[in-house]
Order: sequence, then structure tokens, then C-alpha cells
Amino acid sequence: MKDIPESKPIKFDTILVLDFGGQYCHLIAKRIREQRVYSEIVSCDITADAVMHLREQFDVKGLILSGGPSSVYEDDAPRLDPKILDLGLPILGLCYGHQLLIHLFKGHVKRGHKREYGSASVLVEKPVGVLENLKRKETVWMSHYDTVESLPNTFEVLAHTDNCPIAAVRHKWRPIYGIQWHPEVAHTEHGGIILRNFIFNICGCSASWSPSSVIDTAIEEIRRTVNGKRAIIGLSGGIDSTTATILSSKAIGKNLTAVFVDHGFMREGEPDYVAKTFAKFDVNIVVIDAQGRFFTKLKGVVDPEEKRKIIGEEFIRVFEDVAKKTGAEYLIQGTIYPDRIESGVRKRSEKIKSHHNVAGIPSNIRFTAIIEPLRDMYKDEVREIARSLGVPDALIRRQPFPGPGLAVRIIGEASPESADLLRKADKIVTEEIENDQALEEALWQYFAVLTNIRSTGVKGDTRAYGSVLAIRVVESREAMTARFARIPYKVLERMSTRITNELPQITRVVYDITHKPPATIEWE
Ligand code: XMP
Repeated sequence: MKDIPESKPIKFDTILVLDFGGQYCHLIAKRIREQRVYSEIVSCDITADAVMHLREQFDVKGLILSGGPSSVYEDDAPRLDPKILDLGLPILGLCYGHQLLIHLFKGHVKRGHKREYGSASVLVEKPVGVLENLKRKETVWMSHYDTVESLPNTFEVLAHTDNCPIAAVRHKWRPIYGIQWHPEVAHTEHGGIILRNFIFNICGCSASWSPSSVIDTAIEEIRRTVNGKRAIIGLSGGIDSTTATILSSKAIGKNLTAVFVDHGFMREGEPDYVAKTFAKFDVNIVVIDAQGRFFTKLKGVVDPEEKRKIIGEEFIRVFEDVAKKTGAEYLIQGTIYPDRIESGVRKRSEKIKSHHNVAGIPSNIRFTAIIEPLRDMYKDEVREIARSLGVPDALIRRQPFPGPGLAVRIIGEASPESADLLRKADKIVTEEIENDQALEEALWQYFAVLTNIRSTGVKGDTRAYGSVLAIRVVESREAMTARFARIPYKVLERMSTRITNELPQITRVVYDITHKPPATIEWE
């Protein structure tokens, strides 16, 4: 066994975001990282001791308490370890975090019965601290029931709205602030100024972090964990697994085998694309045709979560078979932060769906450990890392493709026939978008969904009764929120005409006009 010398990772200025279950919690961390300051989301029940312990790893400069759906008066409402207030670290409470701070300092929070939701106009009485450089009147995004009604005399009011007389506060002599609104949401016009005031002026952070600065630490971590043994990595051809593969290959070289599993739900030409793209990289790759076993397992299964779990489990079983042959003890995956968030790894938040490489993993696996070098990264950060690693631009710009592939774009049973039909429709959608480079570059994802609805049509002079196909095209920055794209009608018309002409099984084409939230990007 080789002894790997431990190098000391660089400590970056860090803002910890305490997660009280708010829908926008992840956005707070994202907005801070965009300012080149590292940010980690931690559970709201973290203790003061645990925060101090984290300081061995990160240079913790301040804490943000996120919003959340609770009321401070509920019995099971999430609390904050009061000793955290005495650590001397700057604190900014947002929404529920703001109410909780005031509650802890013995002010009064009034129970609300009507939700205030949407844009509001804030009057800034004192443009100081986190509100420095704001105008007297600001447009902000509010979403709350309860409001702060009175303050302890250690606090002062900095801003109010018509419905909320105490909308922003600060402690009179300690670096503690509370804001009822959400500076992290794009609808708050100058939210960036507020967050920058906090992280730079109040916490004194320096903008020295970048996604690429984690490369050396990630390589080191993989090398140290695998420690001279062998590992395999699931390679899907997407940017996450590609980046994780290159990092891993730099860490352990020939001890790595990248496994591309063709589960039968790939896009047209995908296995060839992956084999060709990776021919230029010095990585051992094996392509496994596992179509038969996936189709068999999915026969008759219609529930989306069940489908995702079966696919997740089957991936692991294929990896275990390869591991047996290559002697690999470790499995590396390209899991990223949103995969974990949406799979419900946060204590106070809901599970949205089981991303196959997180919640789809069975408990009885035959690997010593699973390594996820990109587990704390957002998609655009992974793209930045990939760029620094010399991944070709065309691959970096590729649209994301879910691990379970077309199976989660086929509503109902995912059979070989439906996969084949959807693959053909998807190719048409892709070609029509990619005919217009400017349009393509503005989009996050574009794909077809085969619904289980049947509809009457007329083809030639005869009645046709076939499937309804949906087209989904979205714009997004990091997939946590998305907007349906207003693509030109003529592009939609070309897609629809070609799909119904070239695929007789499809009688109707519809366009999905739902944002995320409330919908997710994929249909299942
Ligand atoms: P949703 O549908 O959750 O998708 O809004 C957000 C982004 O994640 C992709 N996605 C997945 N990626 N494994 C993945 O690697 C999965 O199981 C999975 N499910 C969704 C989706 O394509 C979108 O970009």
C-alpha cells in the first residue's frame, strides 16, 4: 500500500448558510459563490462547537440564516443553537432567519395568517450596514406569514414596507442583521448589493475562491481515498461525469476504469459520441451494452420514482459486475450539488425526485466507498472546472442529460419501442434547435417527452389515433429554477410538422409552457 503524503488544503474565506428549509436556500450559497467567496450550506441544527470545528477546514467569516416555511411558535420549528450568537461571527438572518434572530433576542414576532407573497416596495430609513448604497425606495421579493412586531432595545429598524413595519434591522453594536425579504432572488432588484455588503464589508471576506481552485484538493482527495487501489467511474458523456472522470484520471491514472452503460434510453448516436470524444483522453473506457437487463427490470413499471430507483440500482449492479472483473473497490460518480438537494438530502426540505446517482443507490452495495468529487458544485461551476481542465468547448456546452435518460421522458412504461420512438422525435427537436446557433446557445435544455395520452388525428384522408408528444425547451442558470423558452413559432412549427410527418405513431405535438417551479425540468 502506497503512503500518500497529506498536503494541507488551502482555506478559503467562507460564509456558512444555515438551512432552515427555505426554497431559496441553495440560491443564497450560489449568489455568494458568484462573488468568488466560498459558501457551504449546513443544517440549521449545527452547534456552535461544530461551527468552530469547521473552522479547521474553512475560514468561516460569517453566517447566513436562511428562510424556511416554519413559524417560530411551532413546537417543532427549527431552532438555532443560541451559543452561535456568541461566537463573534457576523450573522445575517433572512425571512425566517430574521424572525428567529429577533425571537432569540426576546423581541416579538407576530403570527401571520395571510401570506405576503411577491414584489414589495421597501422604504430604507437608514442605508447603513447591509443596506449601504441602497436607494430610499427599493423593489424586493417577499414571501412570509409571520412578521417582527417589536424589537428588543439592542436592535434598531433600518427599513419598512406598508405591511411590515420592521422589515430590516441591525443589532446596535454587534454585526448582526435581519431582513424580512429575499436578497438572493432575482426579483429583488439590488439583492446583490445587500449580499456584497454583508460578505465584503461586514464579514471582511476576500474574493479569492473560484470553482477551479478546488481542482487540486479534489484530485488529492480522490488519490488519498483510493490509496493505490482501483476505482471505476460511471461515464455518461455529460459534463458532470466527464469532469469527474478527468479529475479522477489525473488522481489515479491507470487505476481508473470509466464505464459507459448503454441502458437503452440513450439519445440517438450517444454511445458513439462518447467513445469518439474520449478517444482523445488517456482514460481506460469500457462500453457496456446493458439494454436487455434494464428493459427487463422496467417492464410494467409506470411510477416515476420507482423507475428512477430501479435504474439507479441497476446502474450499481452493472458497475459491480465491471468492478469484479477489474478488481475495483471504489466507485466514483459525477454527482453535483443540485442532484443531492433535490433528492432530499437536506433535513428540513422536501424530496423532489430521486436523482439516480443519489437516492437511486441501493443500500447493499459492494464498494468500499462512493467518491463524489463534484458533490458541492453547481453545474456552471462544473463547466468552469472543465474549462480549466482543457475539456473541449463543444462538450462543455452540451446540454445536460439525466442519468435515467429517456426513461424519465417516457410517461408510463418505458419499453424498447417507446424509447425508439422518443429517440427519433428527440432527434428532430434537437436538429431544429441546432439549426439556429444563437437560439441553441441561449437555451439550457431542449428535448421531447412521450406522453401516455392518446389523441385523434387525421393523416391523409384517414383517421389516426396515436400518441401525444410534448416539447420542453427551457432557459436556466443552474437548473434549480428555469423558465420555459419563448422560441420562435416557426421553429415550433417545423418541429411539429416534421414529427407528425416522419413519425406516424404521433398524432399531436404540444409545447410545455411551465416554469420551474412549479414544474421540474424533466417530466418525471
Ligand atoms: P429537474 O427535472 O429536477 O432537472 O428539474 C434538473 C436538471 O437535472 C437533470 N436531471 C438529472 N441529472 N440524474 C442526472 O444526472 C438524474 O437522475 C436527473 N434527473 C434530472 C435534468 O435534466 C435537469 O438538467
